[in-house]
Amino acid sequence: MTQDELKQAVARAAIEYVVEGGIVGVGTGSTANFFIDELGKIKHRIKGAVASSEATAARLKSHGIEVLDLNQVDSMPVYIDGADEITPHGAMIKGGGAALTREKIVASVADKFICIADSSKLVEVLGNFSLPVEVIPMAQAVVAHKLAALGGAPRLRMKDGKPLITENGCLIIDVVGMKIANPSELEAKINNIVGVVTVGLFARQGANVCLLGTAEGVKTLKF
Ligand code: A5P
Repeated sequence: MTQDELKQAVARAAIEYVVEGGIVGVGTGSTANFFIDELGKIKHRIKGAVASSEATAARLKSHGIEVLDLNQVDSMPVYIDGADEITPHGAMIKGGGAALTREKIVASVADKFICIADSSKLVEVLGNFSLPVEVIPMAQAVVAHKLAALGGAPRLRMKDGKPLITENGCLIIDVVGMKIANPSELEAKINNIVGVVTVGLFARQGANVCLLGTAEGVKTLKF
């Protein structure tokens, strides 16, 4: 099976977690895109969706799914999204697509986080994938120094030769070379640095379920 076929299989499996008549929180990235395509097939069974990025909102709309403003939503049974890395305990690195802040906000409203990922994303220890940190532009240098003091090598994320600007008007620093033994502790430490908007560690509120695409079929990990 190709990686795309594995992503498609977990996207299909995630439909079982969609609650009839409810609102679905939807993540960002290639796996989330497969999920949106599946959601389009059952759109009459949901009230609408909350998007974690403009790209996700556009894809939801292209399927005729109503996109709701999070400020008008009281409850959300599930948030469904991919990950860059996930541990056997449900802690994740996210933000490869630069949407980490909106992803964390939408996920915080949902009762359950359903992570959909191909098996290459499962790791014992987080940190092979560089850790994204969204920062307020004027704090870029000071935050980079503090991240270096925590043991990583900070790199400003670039796009087309210029610093990438997020949908929140901020920058992304990718921290390379961290072996994250205690994700919850590091998440709290980095979130406490003044100038940090969000760290792409989802450990304090990690996944509740991971649907993992493997050559032997979709495995369900519950945390
Ligand atoms: C987006 O900012 C990320 O958090 C994505 O969820 C993550 O990068 C996974 O993306 P893929 O599904 O494309 O691997």
